[in-house]
Amino acid sequence: MRTLQEYARIVNDRLAQIPEITPEGSAGIGKLPGLLSASMRYSLSAGGKRLRPCMLLAAVELLGGSVEDALDFACAVEMIHTYSLIHDDLPGMDDDTLRRGRPTNHVVFGEGQAILAGDGLLNCAFETMLAQASCRLDRAADSLLAMREIATGSGVTGMIAGQVLDLWCEREKTGGEAELECIQYGKTACMFIYPLRAAGRLCRATEAQMEALTAYGRAFGLLFQATDDLLDVVGTVEDMGKTLGKDARSGKLTCISAYGVDGTRALVERLHAEAVRALDSFGPDADFFRALADDMVGRTK
Ligand code: IPE
Ligand code: IPE
Ligand code: MG
Ligand code: MG
Ligand code: MG
Repeated sequence: MRTLQEYARIVNDRLAQIPEITPEGSAGIGKLPGLLSASMRYSLSAGGKRLRPCMLLAAVELLGGSVEDALDFACAVEMIHTYSLIHDDLPGMDDDTLRRGRPTNHVVFGEGQAILAGDGLLNCAFETMLAQASCRLDRAADSLLAMREIATGSGVTGMIAGQVLDLWCEREKTGGEAELECIQYGKTACMFIYPLRAAGRLCRATEAQMEALTAYGRAFGLLFQATDDLLDVVGTVEDMGKTLGKDARSGKLTCISAYGVDGTRALVERLHAEAVRALDSFGPDADFFRALADDMVGRTK
């Protein structure tokens, strides 16, 4: 099994070749050559931990599959994640001006263009997966099932639903623990669960393996969002690359508003134990995922 850095390099190399978002790409229109591809590339190439695509690839290797065959699905997940960040930062949503250590997309390109860059990345994700699936018709059924998982995770019962509830609770100044868990499951955990399940589909995982990946993805995702909420209070702008202290100022429903800093740390410990337990049936082959969960507990970025 490779390291996170090795998977990230593989993902970044492939992302740099996606035709629609290369400087020579086809996403230029008329007198505005490359505006769309430039705005998409601006956010995609700004860095980012690449956790979700790397985890998809690591799950593929855990299940005995091929990284090369899964790579476009992993890149698609990162494109969808990046689109969700561009839209999350818009004035009508979290209204943030710094992301991945750079001014946010709408600050540089304007609000309308940032919306379109997000739309472009979302569509490009599916173009990329469909292009890969069309080249490998012998594996069409597996690709179709993987795409369905990814669409479910980022979709109207997944990430988008979580974002809707997040905004609604903030605007209406409402919500308790139940709403908080729905928000964090939707907006964040689904973008871990379903890419892992997509890896399972590409490798024809057993039902038991799918359940284990789902349980890990859920606990890991909730853990990840709990630490994101924590870092909004105790992190540094240099490490996080985004404006901090915003959640409390906007009155957002977060682990901190619900449980406080100490309560959030305790929750992180519980979710870490849950994530590690979900890996039991994989044995030592899943050490990558154990180490990743360990790293999240004390992360600073
Ligand atoms: C940010 O995700 C959005 C959340 C779900 C908290 P990441 O912290 O993974 O962002 P990047 O991809 O590394 O920029
Ligand atoms: C964002 O959650 C989740 C998605 C983009 C889907 P946050 O709003 O907490 O993420 P940050 O703190 O802006 O990265
Ligand atoms: Mg948000
Ligand atoms: Mg935000
Ligand atoms: Mg946050």
